[in-house]
Amino acid sequence: MVEIDDNGEGGEREREDVGEGGAADHVARNRAAWNGWAHDFVAPGESNWASDEPIWGIWGIPESELHLFPDELGGLDAIELGCGTAYVSAWLARRGARPVGVDISREQLATARRLQERHGLPFALHEGNAEHLSFPDESFDLAISEYGACLWADPRLWVPEAARVLRPGGRLTFLTNGTIMMLCAPDSDDELPTDRLVRDYFGMHRFEWPGAPEVEFHLGYGDWIRLLRGSGFEVEDLLELRPPAGATPIPPFDGIVGLEWARRWPCEEVWKARKRA
Ligand SMILES: C[S@@+](CC[C@H](N)C(=O)[O-])C[C@H]1O[C@@H](n2cnc3c(N)ncnc32)[C@H](O)[C@@H]1O
Repeated sequence: MVEIDDNGEGGEREREDVGEGGAADHVARNRAAWNGWAHDFVAPGESNWASDEPIWGIWGIPESELHLFPDELGGLDAIELGCGTAYVSAWLARRGARPVGVDISREQLATARRLQERHGLPFALHEGNAEHLSFPDESFDLAISEYGACLWADPRLWVPEAARVLRPGGRLTFLTNGTIMMLCAPDSDDELPTDRLVRDYFGMHRFEWPGAPEVEFHLGYGDWIRLLRGSGFEVEDLLELRPPAGATPIPPFDGIVGLEWARRWPCEEVWKARKRA
């Protein structure tokens, strides 16, 4: 696989990195996919940048209910892994943190930069792969990802890398698709998750969809726990998100799961972990 890894100055260098079975092409595929999808994320990015109350995930559940952010953010060094249009970093910056947004997509970062200028909120944005960060060990107090690298990068690479760049006691928080939903998700993009298991639980890792360019990563619960603990984290919580009755999905997350399904089973989950001191 050819990966582009940020050199810390906005430049790039390329390197070969072939994973197990020689099939680790996901970075190049996901970069190309996200450069193509970036225009669909401009409007949601604008809306989230314009709002001061963070909302999360498919159903826009407010931060006041979920508490993804630590209570006190003032002065914390934070890294957003797969920041996209970087609205999470913007929310962090407005609360006194010093965020750095990292993303593999130039197009997504171009939107983020435009929105930074519009809102007069400068913070660092780096083009790079969350699986191989260019930051020194123990640089950050918080690593966060909302449907970013936690979904699109290989967890066997990005989780240890997040542990490396976090300081002892630093927090890792990520929001991704619910494991149960992935087990019920048919191959076709046109079909919503069903009330039947259609995939194997054992061996969950790399997910591809017939004819689609992107590659996703989803693990079973035991595998997440072992990976997090083996990388130096203690798991502090697992939130299984449930939309309120009558909720409507926030574009562009509509068309992923029906409300009736999401009221019965968790379609999204938030992992909260802390690096052992
Ligand atoms: C859905 S966006 C996440 C941003 C935002 N929270 C959102 O929900 O729109 C996913 C982002 O992850 C980025 N991404 C995918 N693989 C990545 C990797 N290996 N390292 C860093 N960013 C990655 C994509 O380029 C994309 O901008």
